[in-house]
Parts: sequence; C-alpha cells; structure tokens
Amino acid sequence: MKNKTVRAMTLDALFLALLIVSSFISIDVGYCKFTLQLLTVFLIANFLSLVDGFIVIGLYILMGLIGIPVFAGFGGGIAYAASPTFGFVYGFFFVILLNHLFSDVLLKRIGNELWKSLIGSVASLIALYAVGFVHGYLILTLVKGKSDFTLGAAFTLFLAPYIPFDIAKLGIASFIASRYVNVLLPSRRVHFNEVDSTNTYLKENYRIYKNLSFVDASYQKKGKGRLGRTWEADKDESLMFSVLVKDKKLLQNAPKLSLVAGSAVFKYLQQIGLKNVSIKWPNDIYANEKKICGILLESVSHKKVDAAIIGIGLNVNQETFPEGFFRTPTSIRLETGSPMDLRGIKKDLYKKIKEELLLLKEEKSDYLEVINENSYLKGKDCYCTYNGEKKEIKVLRIDEDGSLIGIIDGDEKKIISDEITFE
Ligand code: BTN
Repeated sequence: MKNKTVRAMTLDALFLALLIVSSFISIDVGYCKFTLQLLTVFLIANFLSLVDGFIVIGLYILMGLIGIPVFAGFGGGIAYAASPTFGFVYGFFFVILLNHLFSDVLLKRIGNELWKSLIGSVASLIALYAVGFVHGYLILTLVKGKSDFTLGAAFTLFLAPYIPFDIAKLGIASFIASRYVNVLLPSRRVHFNEVDSTNTYLKENYRIYKNLSFVDASYQKKGKGRLGRTWEADKDESLMFSVLVKDKKLLQNAPKLSLVAGSAVFKYLQQIGLKNVSIKWPNDIYANEKKICGILLESVSHKKVDAAIIGIGLNVNQETFPEGFFRTPTSIRLETGSPMDLRGIKKDLYKKIKEELLLLKEEKSDYLEVINENSYLKGKDCYCTYNGEKKEIKVLRIDEDGSLIGIIDGDEKKIISDEITFE
C-alpha cells in the first residue's frame, strides 16, 4: 500500500478514536448533552480532507447505529436514530462539508488561515443547529406526540444553552488548526505526466502541501520563464520541477531563495562532473557559455508572503532545441556526451536543494561566495537597462539581499532584478 494511503488511514483512525473519546466526556442537561465531541468534529473539518472527514463521521455514525455505545453518554443502537438529538450527530456531515466549502472554495483567496477557519466553522455551526433543531422538533412533535411543544421551547432546550460553549469549541479548533495544520500535511513529492506549469500548480495548491514539497512534470503545457517568457522542454527529456517554501524563516529570506537554489544547482552540476559551469545573476546557470538551467521564483502573498515557489528547469537529455531561444541552450547530455539518468538527477538535486535551504535557515549558507566566485558576469562587458535606459555596467558583486552592485556612469549602483544584456 502506498505511504500516502497508510498515513491518511492512520490519521482517520486517530481522529475517529478522538471523536469517540470526546463523546464520552459529557455532562447531561435535559434532552441534550454537553460534550467535547463538537470540538473534535471541528478539528476533523480543519485537519482532514473532505473525503477523509466524511469517512470518519460515517464510520462513527455506523458504529453507533449498529449498537456500539459511541454516541454521547454511551448511547448507541438503531433506536438512537429516533432520539431528538440524533440530528446533532448526522449534522456533523454538514459541519465537514461547509468548512471545506468555505475554506477550499468560497474563501480560497483569503490568506489568513484563522479567519478562514472561523468563518467556515461559524457557517457550519449554523447548519448543524438548523439540522439538529429541525430533527429534534420533528421527533418530539411527530414521533413522541408532544404536540404542545413550541418552537420557542425547542430553541430554549436544544440550542440556547449550548451556543457559548460551541462558539468556544469552534474558536479553539480554528486556533489550533491555523497554527498546526501544516504539521499534519504531508511533505509530498508529486509527479504529473502533464501539467500546465509546476509553479502555477503549486501557487494554486500551496495550502495543501507542507514546506519543501516537490512537484515535477514530464511535460509542461504552459511552462513559464522569467519576464513573461515561456519555458519549453521536450517530454521526459529534461527536469521541470518546483519546490514549495512555507517555512517562516525562509520566507523572511524570500529574495535569496532563487540565489540559494542557483547555488545548489551549480554545486550539483559541478559534483556530477560538468565543466565550466557559472551562475548568471539573478537566476540562470550556464555551462560553457550556454544556458543549461533557469530558475523562476514566485510568491503567494496576502498582506505577507504566505509561500514561495522555486521553479527549476534543467536541460538534461535534450539534444536539440527549437530556434529562437533568447539564450543559446545546452543540456547535461550535450555537455558530457552521455545520456543521463533523469530520475537519479531529480532525486539528488531535490536533496541538494533541501540541504542548501536548510543551511540558509541556519544562517550557514555560502550561496553568496559561490555566486560571486562563479559569476558568469565576471569580466564581461555588460549592459543593463537602468532607469529605462540602456547603460554599460561594470559588475562588482552580488550583495547579500540578492541585488547586483555595479558601476554605471562612474557611480556605484544597486540593481534589484533586471535583465542584463551582453555584447
Ligand atoms: C527562466 O530562465 O526564465 C526560468 C525558467 C523556469 C522554468 C521552470 S520549469 C519548472 C517551473 N515551472 C514553470 O512553469 N517554470 C519553472
């Protein structure tokens, strides 16, 4: 069985056990019981996928209805379905559904996880109340024959006493989820045979992946390059992948991420024996004066940077390239003369990039030295567009913040990220 499935099943089982235990912790109040069950249901809604949430709630209800005493106050058995409070049990399906509807669809674009979860949970609590209330009222009036039972009395009995506690439960669950949901998310390696762009995929789905997750594709239909260009590579010939960064400390260093990734690719290419490799600020790796790798750093921000995506395109086995490339391309195969093991390179390079990102986090990265010592721009006549004008520039160094320092018109200038041209 795949690791992913085992992991999901283990999590489902843990939440099911928690749901049962929390249903046992109850205080009787008239027709209803205060339990911690709803706290667990909110946690399930926040931590598990929609399908897994439904599975856990479904199993719980099934266990109760077949006679295992898992409902609040050790209730169980098929007769429980006719109890006035059963609506508050099957209503859990609506809690799961609405939470997901809000966080994955309606509030998808809101970056603040706490607010998103709170709004979804309040909506789902209202739905639970509606289902539980209607069910209880119908059972009492139609089944139990309490025809004198008014809606006001039902409200006082079924809902009013529980509202403050339920709001507290949803607040606690949302708070826990907003802080720890990433801990339970798997750090995944995802492979697509075909995708528009691995960067775009991660930009749209970063929420469901943990820090340093890896997405690669055999082929990209809409591969993106820097400055609005496209990135094209033949199917299964080259590497096209993206690494997701969600770690707070790394995100504080966001502008450095592509330089660190560039330094990692550079070191890796040297390690496998490529000669004359250099790094062209800000994002390209060259071998023998030809471009072998491009890096595209993108970020997702809602007030603050929530995630960064390091997209890497490395030409591995491709031997021919279409005309009209902005920079003359090359590949590892063209440089070494031998076909390469694409899978092995993918695995090793991902490992190398993770190692280098960890060093950055620990403030032990040597990316700046690597880039400065192996700069493609060293000793070249360079031209850049400065304040809209094409200027000659003498490149001095790359600074710690990722900017390029050079002499333009006799003065030292700092260039944040610009296209440098050569003649
Ligand atoms: C450049 O040199 O312009 C940057 C190219 C970056 C290409 C990679 S391939 C994987 C990832 N997905 C994309 O759509 N682009 C990056």
